[in-house]
Amino acid sequence: MGSALNQTARELVAPGKGILAADESTGTIKKRFDSIGCESTEDRRRAYREMLFTTQGAAQYVSGVILFDETIRQSASDGRPLPKILESQGVIPGIKVDKGTTKLAKSPDELVTDGLDGLRDRLVDYRGLGARFAKWRAVINIGAHIPSRLCLDVNAHALARYAALCQDEGIVPIVEPEVLMDGDHSLERCYQVTCDTLHRVFEALYSQRVEFDGMLLKPNMVIPGKGDASSPMSPETIADATLSCFRMTVPAAVPGIVFLSGGQGDEEATANLNAMNAKGPHPWQLSFSYGRALQAPSLKAWKGDDANLSAGQAAYLHRAHMNSLARAGAYTADAEKAAS
Ligand code: 13P
Repeated sequence: MGSALNQTARELVAPGKGILAADESTGTIKKRFDSIGCESTEDRRRAYREMLFTTQGAAQYVSGVILFDETIRQSASDGRPLPKILESQGVIPGIKVDKGTTKLAKSPDELVTDGLDGLRDRLVDYRGLGARFAKWRAVINIGAHIPSRLCLDVNAHALARYAALCQDEGIVPIVEPEVLMDGDHSLERCYQVTCDTLHRVFEALYSQRVEFDGMLLKPNMVIPGKGDASSPMSPETIADATLSCFRMTVPAAVPGIVFLSGGQGDEEATANLNAMNAKGPHPWQLSFSYGRALQAPSLKAWKGDDANLSAGQAAYLHRAHMNSLARAGAYTADAEKAAS
């Protein structure tokens, strides 16, 4: 029997299930809506999220959904609060609690994440609205002379402060240090930076008394930069490099690793997750917490128009299903084609 935090963390990475990241900030969702020619109004944002959250059958594949502050307070067209709609299907509501990135002082090309001020009170508020887990994203850029030790240390420290506060308030922290795919760096460079980042993050978590069995890690995969000539690489190679990095850095007590997609193609993100699970068993569940890689086809099918709600839902259900298969190393080209 684990703690309540451990039980929630394990529910989030139950076999065959993963997390939908639907926590785009107002600025980010505007960019996504611009790509389909839809104006980003509060009503369209609600309609889009309601479409995803009411997809029949998605709860077989999706254990939890990360919401944005606006969304956790919104109600569906039938008047029910959106978090209640998730709960009624056995899907756990979560919340993004960081306030985005800002320039890191003394290192102008690097970023640090804001949001610690008043965080304890905000967690209490979110818990009252139904959130049982949270997310905080730190961003690490690769360049000729970065990341600096300073950048890794301040971001690891903030992630650990956030995680400790969450656990104090009975909320499972998802700890997300994202090493970006931007740039022309090699797979080896991403491996080195990701190992370094995770090493610092777990050091900070340990010194701030975070319980490893009551949290989840949300990392990037070890993958070459988008501008590197060898990109995209085979799922086999990505899987070997990523698993090798995690074995060196992620304690076995962590119940699950839930990947971000980070700009990978939808099918690429599924194939890479599948390759890792095909090499199991591993000490941790390997799952998904995808934003773009779960939503992109659905957003395109919806086009901002309620006449396309069922097409949008079908596209989302298909991606969720494919990623569920990848949780067991059972994703195939035939399965991908079957429903499309
Ligand atoms: P992507 O899968 O689009 O990278 O989004 C996941 C996420 O939550 C980033 O913070």
